[in-house]
Amino acid sequence: MAGNWKMYKTVQQTIEFFQRFNPLVNGVHKCDVVIFPPFVNIPAAQCAAAGTEIKVGGQDVHWGKEGAYTGEISAGMLAAAGCEWVLVGHSERRLYGFETDADVLKKTQSSLEAGLTPVVCVGEKLEERKAGKTEQILVEQFAGGLAGLTEEQFSKVVIAYEPVWAIGTGHTATPDIAADAHRLIRSEVQKRFGSDAAEAVRILYGGSVKPDNVERLMLEQDLDGALVGGASLDAESFSKIVHAA
Ligand code: 13P
Repeated sequence: MAGNWKMYKTVQQTIEFFQRFNPLVNGVHKCDVVIFPPFVNIPAAQCAAAGTEIKVGGQDVHWGKEGAYTGEISAGMLAAAGCEWVLVGHSERRLYGFETDADVLKKTQSSLEAGLTPVVCVGEKLEERKAGKTEQILVEQFAGGLAGLTEEQFSKVVIAYEPVWAIGTGHTATPDIAADAHRLIRSEVQKRFGSDAAEAVRILYGGSVKPDNVERLMLEQDLDGALVGGASLDAESFSKIVHAA
């Protein structure tokens, strides 16, 4: 269960979140719990999560090791800051950062080289769904962003299906719609990396996940977790989501 904080919370608000959140998820061992705060809050989040099983990750990463890339952060820097996880290819990065599937592949590879677990995001826009292109888009994003990995690399990747029309809109995908997309992604995995990989890969659903809809979503066999935006900003609400796992 992952919380993507996007561009929310200061250092102080980060510390206050963990003070409330840690006791609420104490004793949760059956799932990974990861928070993705803004970069500048990562040290505070690491510190506040110390001694718990909660992990901290970066919301984006550059594909290079180091260099003249003003404003960017490398996978090695995230790892050195104690991160084990990183988001790659979030639709907001694709939209505002003009990230392509080729960028997603490079970022995923550099994350893996640094020992991070990348959560690679895919998902169709509303106009693409309306035009009946959901399958085509997911297949393309998989082919461009993930199929170029080796089997060994792919075994360490987590995928997040986030239909863009469900993000921040309150329009959660129905469990059926989400499950269809997850099955499609899993079948692409099966074609490229084989049945074992398809069974093992964790596919998270993201898009308006809330405490009152998460349980029904998680009943779907092909949904292995959630990538939560807005509802992860509040300690009580995100802890309820974690417990639903
Ligand atoms: P919301 O949960 O706010 O819809 O955001 C989903 C998301 O983009 C998580 O990465």
